[in-house]
Amino acid sequence: MIQFADLYKAFDGKPVLAGVTLDVQDGETMVIIGYSGTGKSVALKHVVGLLQPDAGDVIVDGRPVAALDRAGLYGLRREIGFVFQFAALFDSMSVADNVALGLRRRGLSEDEIEERIREALALVDLTGTEQRMPAELSGGMRKRVGIARAIALRPRYLLYDEPTTGLDPVTSAVMDQLMVRTREHLGVTGIVVTHDMRSAYTVGDRIAMLYEGRIRQVGAVAEIQQTGDPVVRQFIEGRPA
Ligand SMILES: Nc1ncnc2c1ncn2[C@@H]1O[C@H](COP(=O)(O)OP(=O)(O)OP(=O)(O)O)[C@@H](O)[C@H]1O
Ligand SMILES: [Mg+2]
Repeated sequence: MIQFADLYKAFDGKPVLAGVTLDVQDGETMVIIGYSGTGKSVALKHVVGLLQPDAGDVIVDGRPVAALDRAGLYGLRREIGFVFQFAALFDSMSVADNVALGLRRRGLSEDEIEERIREALALVDLTGTEQRMPAELSGGMRKRVGIARAIALRPRYLLYDEPTTGLDPVTSAVMDQLMVRTREHLGVTGIVVTHDMRSAYTVGDRIAMLYEGRIRQVGAVAEIQQTGDPVVRQFIEGRPA
């Protein structure tokens, strides 16, 4: 279970997170929605200790992340796959080497690594692209390589930061299916940050809206779709203020 517990974070005196509290249950996919610049990426980064909170913490299976030492953080990151907002591939490395990145660091045998690469690429429908270079891939394919890299590590948790942003509607739908499939095949608990409502409804069990530094509303997809909160309603309907 991942618990955001009264999380506060400001940059240069400007508050971004101001008491975020949210529980993500084992096995569920929680979607976090919210306007650009509200701190969705900042919240995710606290889960893996890439940012230090000003107050409060994220608690992963009972472990307060900010309090972990190097070894604790290393152990935590072995359990959590992070699919970054901008695919973050190494352009000078082949697809296979990009996927293998975390695996090599873990000292797995080359045979095992090859097997994991094959399996992860198959899961994202990129079988046969092992030797291609990132520059030869479309944006959607690059995002899928990012997912393959995360799932090759067989994490308990997967964090996706805007997996469908910038993709055409059909490619977005393919990404949604991949996230659903990944969860079904690997049983991972997920957090998906997005402002793509179609994607939120497809992949989410629950949806939480981050607004002005806090969780404005959290609920099952159907509950959010029927929300009476004008702020949430305006966002999900995509109406200008
Ligand atoms: N490392 C940092 N240093 C200073 N300010 C930062 C840092 N990271 C984020 N911010 C600021 O925090 C705010 C929230 O940023 P964040 O990237 O979390 O937004 P977001 O909700 O993910 O937006 P988007 O939907 O556009 O990705 C922004 O004002 C941003 O400029
Ligand atoms: Mg972001």
